[in-house]
Amino acid sequence: MINLIWAMDINHLIGQDNKIPWHYKEDLKYYKSITNNKRVIMGENTYYSLKSYYQNKALPYKTIYVASLNQLSFEDAILVPDIKIFLEKNQEELYVVGGKTIYNLALPYADRLYITLILKSFTGDTYFDKIDLSNFDLVSFKNSLELLFLVYERKKQL
Ligand SMILES: NC(=O)c1ccc[n+]([C@@H]2O[C@H](COP(=O)([O-])OP(=O)(O)OC[C@H]3O[C@@H](n4cnc5c(N)ncnc54)[C@H](OP(=O)(O)O)[C@@H]3O)[C@@H](O)[C@H]2O)c1
Repeated sequence: MINLIWAMDINHLIGQDNKIPWHYKEDLKYYKSITNNKRVIMGENTYYSLKSYYQNKALPYKTIYVASLNQLSFEDAILVPDIKIFLEKNQEELYVVGGKTIYNLALPYADRLYITLILKSFTGDTYFDKIDLSNFDLVSFKNSLELLFLVYERKKQL
């Protein structure tokens, strides 16, 4: 099962200077409740962004895979040099946690999407590409003041 999870504003903005452009406690709590202690994959930029956010603390995941075309090694993560091959072979539950490049590459393999839609417009430099949700069903919907928590699942092939 491959899950993608991200938050975006009404213009599909997801990042600013390799950081998240907003701070919503409720979304952070939601994100953590889904991803904590899970097997996750992220791109190199997102990895460095999270490392700077957590500073000296360990990232709160069971297994961390970092997708990068550069030959790198990490103290707490496993390098994935080709994310497509990795996702094709994946048999276990996996959470794709960003960023833009990696969401784009992973979307064709996604079984479930956790999208937090922020009903506001922020300033930033990184946008989620246009998403075609026609192959997905909305299976869960929760809203609070400025946030919509949407869960989509890929339609079953008949
Ligand atoms: N709002 C949210 O929920 C959310 C969540 C996470 C991240 N973000 C934001 O997303 C932004 C970062 O996105 P990004 O696109 O710059 O970086 P990224 O997706 O974190 O990382 C991209 C990395 O993937 C590598 N790559 C490209 N093709 C690959 C392949 N086929 N296999 C393996 N690795 C491959 C790239 O290598 P090369 O450098 O060699 O091309 C690059 O190192 C930041 O602003 C961050 O804050 C937002």
